Amino acid sequence: MKILSIETSCDETAVSIIDATGTYEASDFLMQVLGNALMSQMALHAQYGGVFPIMAKREHQKNLVPVLTDTLSQAGMLTTIDESTLSKDTLDKIQYTLKMEGELYAQLLVFLTSHIEPDIDAIAVTYGPGLEPALWVGICFAKALSIAWDLPVVPVNHMEGHILISLLRNEDEVISQKFLVLSKDTSGPTHDSGLMTIDSLAFPSLALLVSGGHTELVLMKDWMHYEVVGQTRDDALGEAFDKVARLMDLPYPGGPQISRLAEEARVEELPSAYKQTRPMIHSKDLDFSFSGLKSSIRRLIESQTVWTQTQKQQLAREFEDTVTDTVVAKVKHAVAEYGIQTLIVGGGVSANKHLRLSLESFAHDTGLQVYLPAAKDATDNALMIAIAGYFRAEKKQFAELENIRAKGTLPLI
Ligand code: KG4
Ligand code: ZN
Repeated sequence: MKILSIETSCDETAVSIIDATGTYEASDFLMQVLGNALMSQMALHAQYGGVFPIMAKREHQKNLVPVLTDTLSQAGMLTTIDESTLSKDTLDKIQYTLKMEGELYAQLLVFLTSHIEPDIDAIAVTYGPGLEPALWVGICFAKALSIAWDLPVVPVNHMEGHILISLLRNEDEVISQKFLVLSKDTSGPTHDSGLMTIDSLAFPSLALLVSGGHTELVLMKDWMHYEVVGQTRDDALGEAFDKVARLMDLPYPGGPQISRLAEEARVEELPSAYKQTRPMIHSKDLDFSFSGLKSSIRRLIESQTVWTQTQKQQLAREFEDTVTDTVVAKVKHAVAEYGIQTLIVGGGVSANKHLRLSLESFAHDTGLQVYLPAAKDATDNALMIAIAGYFRAEKKQFAELENIRAKGTLPLI
């Protein structure tokens, strides 16, 4: 089955096409990436220090058709025609669907009337969680393509995508090595060519989801069944990285910047400094809180007028160590409480090298199998939506177009 997926929940406009077969129950899932393109709005939002939903929406409108074109071209599915085969009725319906997205409609009309329908079986689109204006653009785009090409649409939960992409492996890697720690620290599995699969998963499994909007511990007793057993009470982990980076005058998104400085502090073996309390480390529940830590760092920064590069490196390291210690402690707690067999880590912050190494080391010491995404797949992309979309489409979980609505705070259930 060929799935075309669309992701616009935050500041990345992404489209991918996969060709997949098999099921997770039978452990015979196989897929190939036919096309995978992404346009990031990061540079634009960096000027303002964060993502503005209305600006993100406008950029998605501009970028969707070029990103779709790129993806179809990679897949060898971009064929031009001289004359459109779409009826007036179909074109009217598309215009109505994109009535709030004039610029997108104009571009899509040109595209649809000059290209042949691609060989796709279903469209997957993120409908939440995320920024609602941004999500709506992707949803309306998916609906318009569904009308044009007469394809079913499967709505996908963005966080399910983050979980499933962490399980992705190169097929030869899985066959040749049944090893305990399956992650690669930096490169991870490549999907540039060749077949990909996902490993059979031992349950109960625990998913740690750490991104710009989420910090959650999710219990999975079976495939596609989720129970959130712990979450942040205030800032998400990625948000904490971004806010602390902003306090330190580092550009958005701050996660990779803090990570870089902290790494320098480790390489240079700088003495530890600016000791912070590990928040909620002794609480009996599985919840997190990062806003107190952020306030403490703000006070620290304001207490000193000049910060040398060395001091910045030390501060970044202390922040990264603090949040990592907290996350590892909570994971440890959850693993013991629920008799966890496998640990899955997903979301943008799972690109963080120190966090990855710490979780791998914990998993190794406990004999726990851990799945981390390839660093390049950790942040938002459309491939993760295609994988989740395939599993839902394979179970015929399609939705009526009029019932697909953006849900900013969509939970995982
Ligand atoms: O999953 P994602 O791409 O978007 C959301 O769904 O939120 O996550 C983005 C977040 C940002 O807060 C960014 O600073 C953080 O992931 N991030 C990192 C790293 N790379 C991205 N945080 C820490 N270390 C990194 N290397
Ligand atoms: Zn995300």
